[in-house]
Amino acid sequence: MKKITIALFVLFSSQLFAAGGGVALESARIDLNDKASLQRGAKYFVNYCLSCHSAKQLRYSRMATDLEIPPELVELNLMFTGEKIFDGMTISMRPEDAVRWFGVNPPDLSLIARSRGSDWLYTYLKSFYVDESRPFGVNNILFPKVGMPHVLADLQGLQKAVYKDVELEDGSVRTVIDHLEISEPGRMSVEEYDEAMNDLVNFLTYMGEPAQLERQKLGWKVLVFILIMLLVFYFLKKEFWKDIH
Ligand code: HEC
Repeated sequence: MKKITIALFVLFSSQLFAAGGGVALESARIDLNDKASLQRGAKYFVNYCLSCHSAKQLRYSRMATDLEIPPELVELNLMFTGEKIFDGMTISMRPEDAVRWFGVNPPDLSLIARSRGSDWLYTYLKSFYVDESRPFGVNNILFPKVGMPHVLADLQGLQKAVYKDVELEDGSVRTVIDHLEISEPGRMSVEEYDEAMNDLVNFLTYMGEPAQLERQKLGWKVLVFILIMLLVFYFLKKEFWKDIH
């Protein structure tokens, strides 16, 4: 019993550590049935994220059906880069340019909610703060030295870090970030920004679901293909060898 408890503790604490690196995560309210929230999230995503991040596994047509948006409205309001409605969400920025500008390639976000979790994403989007030592003038408490600029600064405004001193076990004192505080307001109040980020994360979470379904479908197709090829090769082999005795 003791062993199990210890194992559970180790498992749990390592997960906590992996999740936040010491920063407490805030919870996002995920509701994939809330179509209005998903629609708002889609709008934020194409306006603020899709210039750098692709979401190749999500087709516009699929989004139109799932989010109950008429396809012509999707084409009018959510597609800016000359794609077709059956295309996935790609970007026109070339990877080598991205690396030159940001030092890293902004990852495809199709499955980001699955790898990071919705609470992580929600907290991340709220955790940018002014840090003049960084190339874009901002840092992120959840993702230190992040290569992404604070692209939502016009909505949220800018946050500054408020520090505090903590005494370590050996008696030395270290200055750490206590919390973040709005230093320059944006177009949204704190509550409005929280709501907007919740919608965006709701959408990112939805995005991981069809992508998963697509992958499973593709998996089956590959399996069936392999089976058919196996049969073909089997009969071919029989055919080749039947005269050689
Ligand atoms: C100007 C380009 C740009 C825009 C616009 C942008 N990002 Fe990023 N993003 C980046 C870059 C570059 C990174 C890689 C950061 C790193 O690894 O240091 C990144 C990283 C991320 C990550 C972390 C990925 C990981 O490693 O787990 C998330 C999540 C993310 N972005 C979400 C978003 C969302 C949501 C939006 C829209 C609100 C957005 N980004 C808009 C450039 C951008």
